[in-house]
Amino acid sequence: MSIKLSTGKEIPIEMHKARMVQKIWLTLVEQRLKAIEEAGYNTFLLKTKDIFLDMLTDSGVNAMSDNQFAGMIKADDAYAGSMTFYEFAEAVEDVLGYKYVMNVHQGRAAEHLIPKVFAKSGDVIPTNYHFTTTKAHIELIGAVCLEIYTDEALKTESTFPFKGNMDPQKLKDTIKKYGRDKIPFVRMEATTNLLGGQPFSMENLREITRICNEYGIPLVLDGSLICEDAYLIKQRQKGYENKTVAEIVKEMCSLADLFYMSGRKNTCVRGGLIATNNEELFEKIKPWLPVYEGFFTYGGMSMREIGAMAVGVREMVDPDVAGCTIKQIKYFVKRLVETRIPVVTPPGGLACHLDAKKFLPHIPQTQYPAGALAAALYIASGIRSMERGTLSMDRDKEGNEVLSDLELTRIAIPRRVYTMSHIEYAVDRINWLYKHRDLIKGLKFVYEPPVLRFFLGKLEAIDNWGRSLCEAFEKELGPC
Ligand code: F0G
Repeated sequence: MSIKLSTGKEIPIEMHKARMVQKIWLTLVEQRLKAIEEAGYNTFLLKTKDIFLDMLTDSGVNAMSDNQFAGMIKADDAYAGSMTFYEFAEAVEDVLGYKYVMNVHQGRAAEHLIPKVFAKSGDVIPTNYHFTTTKAHIELIGAVCLEIYTDEALKTESTFPFKGNMDPQKLKDTIKKYGRDKIPFVRMEATTNLLGGQPFSMENLREITRICNEYGIPLVLDGSLICEDAYLIKQRQKGYENKTVAEIVKEMCSLADLFYMSGRKNTCVRGGLIATNNEELFEKIKPWLPVYEGFFTYGGMSMREIGAMAVGVREMVDPDVAGCTIKQIKYFVKRLVETRIPVVTPPGGLACHLDAKKFLPHIPQTQYPAGALAAALYIASGIRSMERGTLSMDRDKEGNEVLSDLELTRIAIPRRVYTMSHIEYAVDRINWLYKHRDLIKGLKFVYEPPVLRFFLGKLEAIDNWGRSLCEAFEKELGPC
């Protein structure tokens, strides 16, 4: 929640206390330069010993609750038929309202199974916006991922509350153009990751469901960030002010035919799930689970993680959990807007996103401005962020660069991990970087993998700009 101070100022306040901590270090700027050079200017390839604040992602790095740890210890280890799985299934039915559920080892495993079972080469899958791993799996089977977002979606500075909406008219046109038989399902993603953590509205989800029902096309909901979307619907959509996050989540789920989520975010564990009330859809996926993931009652996860997930599914709709990152992100974005740093607005879920096209207008997209900014932020602060732009797109079949709609440097906020002083530090270093943005130049590949190149690719700084930035930092701010 947020608390209003007696001065009138509002601050996010943590509704939990730290009972176990991990030591972190801030290394010298010279060491950070060396580390990022060794990592090929790719923040994924840094080692955590060299990182001060790890804001790469909110996935698999959230603080679990005491009750989740208890759930881990109690877990019933069995290859088949574990009672922990059935406790988990009960939690899913209570919270999401789905009768049928299976675990998968993480979100992308669901993204592998769903197109594999329902789609074929030449199909088209409309989505409000793609996610990297979703698109990779759809394209691997020869289908196309078609984005039909609204006109507001790509405006980084906006006051539009639901930039994650799908455009209903464009969906109807798409169905008419390709024909119902070429569209195995429509995909909606909650708190749309690559649009800067932007939600869709309940009204929009309802309209998209109505269109899907009209044409008999199943609606698949990626609920990896469902609780943030629900929290933002409560804050931004008329008629939802007095509903609980739990009620909104259940209503969203009731509108989808098939649901999947990465459990690494909302449930604060390491795993995933696929759920539905449609027995026929479920039975089509089920035989493939033991082939690719594991037996039906563990699906590639450890029973301990499932034990923690059973608790996490219930806890994720607590507004103090669902809203904990949203409050911090709102504060973070507000502090950056105060000094006119180009940042995605309105603030959403998952992260604070810097608009690298505006931050570094002198770097062309083919030299990956968002990747350069992520590397520069690391040098100037020890903060690890993530590129979400052209570097995160793979080349087309002819080997041409596919320019991303947005060039974002994502500074993610893991749940219940960092505090206000960490955010103030980030704000300060981003401001310093903005003043010295002319020193930052582009990147070029020295090793480029054929698929999802952003994970393992290695790059170098054009004109060795990392060194110039490091020297400017040392001169003004000292060794760290
Ligand atoms: N869908 C969405 C919306 C996601 O944000 C992610 C992961 C996935 C699917 C895949 O799930 O990682 O468990 O296999 N997002 C992470 C991120 C990687 O950093 O935003 P996964």
